[in-house]
Amino acid sequence: MYNRTDLFKHKAIYQQQLANQLVTAVIVLDEKLTIQYLNPSAEALLGKSYRRLFNLAFDDVFPNSTIGAIRLQQVIESGQEFNDSDVSIQLGDHYTFTAEVTASATEFNQQPHILLELKQIDQQKQISAEAFQQQQWESARDLIRGLAHEIKNPLGGLRGAAQLLTKELNSEQQEYTSMIIEQADRLRNLVDRLLGPNQLPKMEVQNIHIVLEKVTQLVSFDNEKNIQVIRDYDPSIPDIAFDADKVQQAILNIVNNAIQAIEPESEITLKTRVASNQTINGQRVKLSIMLSIIDRGPGIPEDIQDTLFYPMVSGRSNGTGLGLSISQTLIHQHHGKLSCKSRPGRTEFTILLPISDETKL
Ligand SMILES: Nc1ncnc2c1ncn2[C@@H]1O[C@H](COP(=O)(O)OP(=O)(O)OP(=O)(O)O)[C@@H](O)[C@H]1O
Ligand SMILES: [Mg+2]
Repeated sequence: MYNRTDLFKHKAIYQQQLANQLVTAVIVLDEKLTIQYLNPSAEALLGKSYRRLFNLAFDDVFPNSTIGAIRLQQVIESGQEFNDSDVSIQLGDHYTFTAEVTASATEFNQQPHILLELKQIDQQKQISAEAFQQQQWESARDLIRGLAHEIKNPLGGLRGAAQLLTKELNSEQQEYTSMIIEQADRLRNLVDRLLGPNQLPKMEVQNIHIVLEKVTQLVSFDNEKNIQVIRDYDPSIPDIAFDADKVQQAILNIVNNAIQAIEPESEITLKTRVASNQTINGQRVKLSIMLSIIDRGPGIPEDIQDTLFYPMVSGRSNGTGLGLSISQTLIHQHHGKLSCKSRPGRTEFTILLPISDETKL
């Protein structure tokens, strides 16, 4: 049996940890409507850390939200809570989401405060849209793979026969067979890209920044457009297990697209952060590495945005449309997620790689 003091201590332990574990985003505002506290779910929802949001005014953090300072002021004055299941919240100038918000008057340190509880309600919709996209992508990829596989075998036969024939021909005639061999090799290259990565990743525990440094170096070696790579790293990111070659290839495909799209002398930003409570392939992942590749180019053409990751979707006249599909496969092999948000003037590709307890060092 617990006595009263023990029970109180026992309860306090749970209370202290509770806010950190909640899926609901919790924000505490003081009387002046500045942010005093937010739990990790709120940090994830707002995409900013407690340190950056502490003491900021509600109106500055939620500039165009449909709950304004006046409604919140009323909560403090009347002591009555309100619940609104359709609050539109805008973060930055390119991301809006719908949330269910409960605001209640409360006291901390004997001072009046407001407790805000936010639940993102379009997340569920987004998860099913993502699952649908994923299915579509997989069937398009499988179709192309099947086709590529069927082309590969006869192509091998064709090349082999041309090689045998070469031996029977004089040097002038051999020009024809070497032409056949050369073209067969070109096709073989294409077919291999269509088939996509076929080896399982070789996982090794290491730091993601090693790969980003390599990508930066590769860009600087072949830099006709004089593009500047800005590195915005979070050095505290833990090491995780991944295949460096594959992740590098996935990032390079994205970076190369950006280089092709932007003006000479422009910038590409490589940003890393630790993100909490992200949804990856329909599953909630507590901690993940969030890697963003950002450019300020013209944006993804509108007509290919929905099918961007499908194989053979290209907005360039000489593009094969395989780069992003390959990147998607490589990131999936790491149980991660690759997504993109784009509008003219800003394109951001985001790679999420889960940090699991086994992979964390
Ligand atoms: N950062 C970007 N800015 C503008 N458009 C982009 C960007 N990234 C990708 N795109 C568009 O997406 C298309 C698809 O890219 P993807 O890498 O899959 O194929 P590709 O570059 O056309 O061909 P491949 O990579 O196979 O040579 C590109 O053709 C381009 O139109
Ligand atoms: Mg490409």
